[in-house]
Amino acid sequence: MPAMTRALQIRQFGGPEAMQLVELEVGEPGPGEVCIRHHAVGVNFIDIYQRTGLYANPLPLTLGMEGAGVVEAVGAGVTHLQPGDRVAYASQPPGSYCELRVMPARSVVVLPDGIDFETGAAMMLKGLTVQYLLRRTQPQGGLQPGDFVLWHAAAGGVGLIACQWARALGLRLIGTAGGAEKCGLALAHGAEFAIDYRSEDFVARVREITGGRGVRAVYDSIGQDTFEGSLDCLEPFGLMASFGNASGPVPPVNLGVLAAKGSLHLTRPTLFTHLATRESTQAMADDLFARVSSGEVRIPVSRRYALADAAQAHADLASRVTTGCLVLLP
Ligand SMILES: NC(=O)c1ccc[n+]([C@@H]2O[C@H](COP(=O)([O-])OP(=O)(O)OC[C@H]3O[C@@H](n4cnc5c(N)ncnc54)[C@H](OP(=O)(O)O)[C@@H]3O)[C@@H](O)[C@H]2O)c1
Repeated sequence: MPAMTRALQIRQFGGPEAMQLVELEVGEPGPGEVCIRHHAVGVNFIDIYQRTGLYANPLPLTLGMEGAGVVEAVGAGVTHLQPGDRVAYASQPPGSYCELRVMPARSVVVLPDGIDFETGAAMMLKGLTVQYLLRRTQPQGGLQPGDFVLWHAAAGGVGLIACQWARALGLRLIGTAGGAEKCGLALAHGAEFAIDYRSEDFVARVREITGGRGVRAVYDSIGQDTFEGSLDCLEPFGLMASFGNASGPVPPVNLGVLAAKGSLHLTRPTLFTHLATRESTQAMADDLFARVSSGEVRIPVSRRYALADAAQAHADLASRVTTGCLVLLP
């Protein structure tokens, strides 16, 4: 009899209620594939973009890009994994909101013994994002200890990891967050300054903190609401890394604005370009595992939900009430 799994699927784009718990058949892994039984599944803002259709995928779609569990079977040609391995991943295509799945083995890495499944599921997509942003998405000349960077949504899942990693690199991270409590959390995780961008003018505060000079790089996942202001926080030749759209996508940009504001650099990166090969995925994961194993970066799992309650997790994440990382437990 074929293996079955419960999974959260959408048949049409929409709100959290569009997710339905269904029973699916799970096939055998083909060449280059692996079958994983999840012990924990990460919830990410990208899951919301995919649910609403901002990032469109063919339907029906099982959501989810991040998980941790145990390998049940490997397909032909897979040499870096074997049945029984504890593993974790951030990967295309979506499909992690389930108990059991078959997926490309390329993006799956062995989880070090000292890292539990919840941590593994919470840290792969968010931690590897911080890895490629702070280590591989830098302004001209690189980032040096003592440099100022601005990080929006600093108390979120990606944000709290970034605060800690930036501190470990000696960077002076200015974080923005909605409300005093979230600002306090960002500071406790290593931000040197925190700005409540719901009540303060973050551009004016960044200018004040940096003595009028501005920051070397802005890491902006808010999109529409902060894009213009973020450019105004940069020093000449600074880097704007626009990596998300929590408030909505950035409208078309007049490139002349980059000249007017000081020969700025602008990039719109995605983790999945960086994870294109097994070698780059392993190298980035090794860097993340080293930071987590040493205790320099602690993965802040703040909320746990049953798999069937994923709609509640989405509603909470979209309504800005959460901090840190959310996981589903199948
Ligand atoms: N390009 C990539 O490679 C990549 C990879 C991973 C994640 N991302 C992006 O990074 C961001 C963070 O992801 P995450 O999963 O860790 O989420 P998160 O930061 O935990 O949650 C999003 C946060 O954004 C802030 N926000 C500001 N305006 C908002 C609005 N209108 N609606 C909802 N939230 C708003 C809220 O924090 P405050 O209350 O503090 O404002 C909210 O808590 C997302 O935009 C995601 O798409 C991009």
